[in-house]
Amino acid sequence: MKTLFNPAGSIRRRLLWLLLIGAAVLSGLLYLSVSTVARSAVETTQDSILGAATIAIAEQLRGADDGVEVDIPYTAFSMLGAVGEDRVFYRILVNGETVTGYDDLPLPDTTPAGLTPRYYSHPYQDMMVRIAAVERPVLVSSRSVAVQVLVAQTRTAQDAIVGQMANRAAALGLGFFGVAAVLAVVTARSVVQPVNSLAEAMGRRGPQDLRPVTRPVPQELTPLVAALNGFISRLSGALTRTETFIAEAAHHIRTPLATLRAQAELALRQTDDDATRATLRGVIRSVDDSARSASQLLEHAAVVYRSDQRADDRIDLAALARDIGQSFGPTADLRDLTLAVHTPDSPVWLTADRLLVETALRNLVDNAIKYSNPDGQVSIDVDQSATHASVRVSDRGRGLDGARRSHLTARFQRGGNVGDVVGTGLGLTIVQEVARAQNGSFTLSDRTGGGTCAELSLPL
Ligand SMILES: Nc1ncnc2c1ncn2[C@@H]1O[C@H](COP(=O)(O)OP(=O)(O)OP(=O)(O)O)[C@@H](O)[C@H]1O
Ligand SMILES: [Mg+2]
Repeated sequence: MKTLFNPAGSIRRRLLWLLLIGAAVLSGLLYLSVSTVARSAVETTQDSILGAATIAIAEQLRGADDGVEVDIPYTAFSMLGAVGEDRVFYRILVNGETVTGYDDLPLPDTTPAGLTPRYYSHPYQDMMVRIAAVERPVLVSSRSVAVQVLVAQTRTAQDAIVGQMANRAAALGLGFFGVAAVLAVVTARSVVQPVNSLAEAMGRRGPQDLRPVTRPVPQELTPLVAALNGFISRLSGALTRTETFIAEAAHHIRTPLATLRAQAELALRQTDDDATRATLRGVIRSVDDSARSASQLLEHAAVVYRSDQRADDRIDLAALARDIGQSFGPTADLRDLTLAVHTPDSPVWLTADRLLVETALRNLVDNAIKYSNPDGQVSIDVDQSATHASVRVSDRGRGLDGARRSHLTARFQRGGNVGDVVGTGLGLTIVQEVARAQNGSFTLSDRTGGGTCAELSLPL
């Protein structure tokens, strides 16, 4: 019953219960009506046989001068005997006085009207008997006397037949219920099938699949699908606006900052006043800081946006690491660092969003270079296991100074070891976000012998 009223319960189970209850009620009614009809049909048949036997006896009554002549015909009893092992009793009364038969056989409540038998049931000799009574006038010495004939019969045979019929009706009801139950299961399944297949189709979609649902659905599901399509179109509109905003913001922030920096540099070259030159250097440093912050903020926004819209690219992690190593070459040279990339000879294929992995890697290499001492060494190592590919970026720099990874990966958190190194504290937040979006893991640890080792591991 709980299934029927639980709003979060399964529709299929609810439907199945309702259909089964309906089938059970109908089967019960079928059993009752079949057994009732059968019982009354058997009763009517038995009554007519009993009545016919009674009339046959009554018709053999003859009037004589000294009384009524009773000649019970053999056929009357053979008719009744044909029905079974039942016992038969009779009683014949002339003018209300028993002349032959069982004189305690119960009389009818009202006098029967002629040869139309009156039927009634009555207990007799510890049994239930069915009695038919008729009355007919007979001429005795030219006077009409009323003769009543009563024939009674036990109903063992009839009860046996009725019992048999009831058993058949029960079997019929059960059979009907069985067929209805099978049909109920089929019906419930077929009714719920469109809902299941719609849910399955939606579940199979990738996270970036925002096409409207166009598959044909039953009329009842049309409002739901229309609402779903409305929601999808609003969501994809919002996502497009976010993407446009990120791209436009990047452009509108970077361009004026670059112009400002160029002009400050120009002014720096044109002036000889020391105080002005110091101020302009300060301006240039602040512009660099702002540009860095803006680009990290936008990169973080882009990563968060893409974590939901993840593309499944097939990327070679080894080639990607080599490309990044190459692009950081000039920066490493400027700081007199050796940047070495070690990858397996064969490609390391994995399915992931290229832009996300690239952004994470760039931030790790950027940190390793930023926090290294001049003449230090930075190495990028790519490895592959049966299920994962990993890239390890290690340096011989200042180390983490005891700071915990969970603290450093929080937004805008920088370590106590940064000194005068510029930064916003978003780099590791981005790496952590990428690891989460790609179902990978990120670890950061101090190296024995000094320096830091950051490792990003991604499933193949
Ligand atoms: N290779 C490393 N060596 C030493 N400390 C590191 C290293 N990488 C990260 N850290 C510490 O972790 C902190 C957080 O790093 P994260 O990259 O998030 O920020 P950031 O480098 O300070 O700023 P940015 O957002 O510009 O990258 C750093 O401020 C630094 O203290
Ligand atoms: Mg950083």
